[in-house]
Amino acid sequence: MAVILKTVGLNKVYRLGSFFRAKKIQALDNVNITVESDRPVIIAVVGESGSGKTTLAKTLLRLEVPTSGSAIVYDKEVAGAGSRPSRREFLQSIQPIFQNPFEAFSRYRNVDAYLHETAIRVAGLSAEDARDAVAHALSSVGLEYNDVVGKYTNQFSGGELQRISVARALIPEPSLIVADEPVSMIDASRRMIIINLFRKLRDEEGRSFLYITHDLATAYYISDFIAVMKKGQVVEFGKAQAVMSDPQHDYTRLLLNSIPTTRQRWRPRNVAPATLN
Ligand SMILES: Nc1ncnc2c1ncn2[C@@H]1O[C@H](COP(=O)(O)OP(=O)(O)OP(=O)(O)O)[C@@H](O)[C@H]1O
Ligand SMILES: [Mg+2]
Repeated sequence: MAVILKTVGLNKVYRLGSFFRAKKIQALDNVNITVESDRPVIIAVVGESGSGKTTLAKTLLRLEVPTSGSAIVYDKEVAGAGSRPSRREFLQSIQPIFQNPFEAFSRYRNVDAYLHETAIRVAGLSAEDARDAVAHALSSVGLEYNDVVGKYTNQFSGGELQRISVARALIPEPSLIVADEPVSMIDASRRMIIINLFRKLRDEEGRSFLYITHDLATAYYISDFIAVMKKGQVVEFGKAQAVMSDPQHDYTRLLLNSIPTTRQRWRPRNVAPATLN
């Protein structure tokens, strides 16, 4: 079986302030997760604001160096003492969708430049093939090539930019997409389209996802595995069905009980897309 994700004793401490008045923030606290599978999977990471979800994503994307511990993604070491793949090789297999698309794209650059750059520099396509790949990726998130090309970030809504971020990440056909709250700015009807697109990409094109969200109901709808984070720790981790039907940690139970439902008690089998938001 392939090691899709394995973190061992992953810690990240941020130090703020001066030497004498240093304040430590334990953004990741001994995170140990192992996902082994023969088929692609969606791993959801759920937790309150500040629980360390983005820090975990950034560490797996090699954008943050952990204070200690190691991480393996698709049998490749991304954090730790071992040898690591080149940046380009890495981005061919692991692609990010960042939490805030306004930070991911400069306001002074045409948005499509990022997509063409990914197609040419990362996927290694010719200019002509790059155009086709960009158009294809945009159409899979419901956007037309001609409606995107030549425009700047201020000419799009937050939701449109998030969809463009999703399209960009699809271009190199990566094994794993690390998606940090990728639908938070998208309206409810389109949100389901993107969420179902991720499931289709898993089932038909072999892509795995690390899907970060605040929302446990969406996590359950989309994922094979769920990690629940609180204060830098993964307090609960397991198969999605097991986490939802038999939560072990009080915090998971609290999240479960806060899912809006017309029923008195949460029933995992009855998640209907209409209840998701
Ligand atoms: N670059 C940084 N410097 C200092 N502290 C940081 C830095 N990045 C994150 N933190 C702190 O680490 C903790 C975890 O932050 P993180 O962004 O990973 O949380 P999160 O779960 O993604 O939250 P949200 O749901 O609001 O996006 C927070 O206390 C945050 O303030
Ligand atoms: Mg975050």
